[in-house]
Amino acid sequence: MSKPKARISFTVDGKKCSAAPGQTILQAAKDNGIYIPALCRWEGFKPAGACRVCTVRVGGRYMAACTQPVTDGMAVENDVPDLQDMRKALIEMLFVEGNHMCPTCEKSGNCELQALAYRFLMLVPRFPFQFPARRVEPAGKKILLEHNRCIKCLRCVRGVRTRDNKAVFGTLRRSRDKKISVDQVLASALTDKQARQAMDRCPVGSILKKEVGFAVPIGRRKYDKEPIGSDVEKARG
Ligand code: FES
Repeated sequence: MSKPKARISFTVDGKKCSAAPGQTILQAAKDNGIYIPALCRWEGFKPAGACRVCTVRVGGRYMAACTQPVTDGMAVENDVPDLQDMRKALIEMLFVEGNHMCPTCEKSGNCELQALAYRFLMLVPRFPFQFPARRVEPAGKKILLEHNRCIKCLRCVRGVRTRDNKAVFGTLRRSRDKKISVDQVLASALTDKQARQAMDRCPVGSILKKEVGFAVPIGRRKYDKEPIGSDVEKARG
């Protein structure tokens, strides 16, 4: 019988950590009670490396913690001022690139982008607002696609599927013109539970379930109660 592979030792900002072979930096850091901010990642989906909010530095090189496997002896820089400011700039870019009206958004308090903006103490973005012309698109019988809020994280493309495993969402065009597309027939085939899951998998308020709104009042939602990342950090104590 082959012996189980030994654990890997690495550090994050000088703190000693251990990981199972093959774990990504982000997952291994989380298991050691260290929060690395992330937006496009969703546990259980193949990482896409789309948002770069999880960028860390190893040996002077920048890498996405959600895609890079941890290696023995790796020294990861995570919570350092220049990296944190770079992440904050990325979050600000996401805000100015779309049209995000948090006070009227159904996802306010459950929105990961908004929660990260609070975590990073974002006030006025350093970049000019783009005010792009985007629309709200009905997506089958159960959901709406609010393109104004979409951050192209591709979580819906990777993770929203019908019962027979067909992808409901895809992408159109490239670069800054990239847009999420939806298959109207497949979207109509989603069950109520799947439509709810689709909404939950979207980190912002871009996928909304029709015919429900503000069922939980703003102020009593997930990130109204607890800042994003605090669940991971509490585990370290
Ligand atoms: Fe790693 Fe988006 S969470 S690139």
